[in-house]
Amino acid sequence: MSDRANQLISDILRRIHEAIVEHNVTYEEYHTAKQWFIDVGEAGEWPLFGDVYIEHVVEEQAFGNRKGSKGTILGPFHVPDAPVLDVPFELPHRPDEPGDRTRVSGRVTDVDGHPLAGANLDVWQADAEGRYSGFMPGPPQGNLRGQVRTDADGGYEFTTVIPGPYTIPLDGPTGKMTAAAGWSPWRPAHIHLIVSADGYEPLVTQLFIDSSDYLDNDVASAVKPELIVHPEPTGDGGYAFTYDFALAPVRTPAIA
Ligand code: BEZ
Ligand code: FE
Repeated sequence: MSDRANQLISDILRRIHEAIVEHNVTYEEYHTAKQWFIDVGEAGEWPLFGDVYIEHVVEEQAFGNRKGSKGTILGPFHVPDAPVLDVPFELPHRPDEPGDRTRVSGRVTDVDGHPLAGANLDVWQADAEGRYSGFMPGPPQGNLRGQVRTDADGGYEFTTVIPGPYTIPLDGPTGKMTAAAGWSPWRPAHIHLIVSADGYEPLVTQLFIDSSDYLDNDVASAVKPELIVHPEPTGDGGYAFTYDFALAPVRTPAIA
């Protein structure tokens, strides 16, 4: 076993042992916890549990000091290889897609403000009722998922609908644990993006809608003030907002 694994595992176990002593955990509680571990595995919810309750600390630890735009958690609902969109750059959606239309536009640059032409924005989001295609009943496969490339000036633009807030699944063990602790299961409305360009660190992030509930008590603790956007009415029944992304140069691997 490596020193790192030894230290990390020892430390995690020591902290669990300390919590058991501090709270005088009973055999009944230990058996309940064991059954809960089994239930999380059987429900396939370990990725969900990790992304809700652990990923935000790993993300902040990994990228909190990085130059450029703020990132936040990836979460469990990304699907690779969404279609690359063409004019009119509209995220694929149902003909009767519910929700307010919004235009999203801005620029992708390096940290010195130089435009990055041909940068890729991989975008995914829940629908206005808070449902992700491919994971929840309702929206068809590929709904509200697509990739957009920047133009020669680093500009991008696409239209979509303003997503709704959503809860993590309530009937599974992660939701039941959340309820048992008396915590809110909601995530505020957000649009996910991975912004990438050759030679730069990919930016995994989310843009949070300012009018959404739950910005102050996101179950996944992923909201950062720099990531809150303000869709403005455009006078034609729709909305628009801009957001510029600055990418940090790719890190040179440390020589061992
Ligand atoms: C999400 O943003 O899609 C998400 C993140 C963590 C847990 C569940 C969902
Ligand atoms: Fe999400």
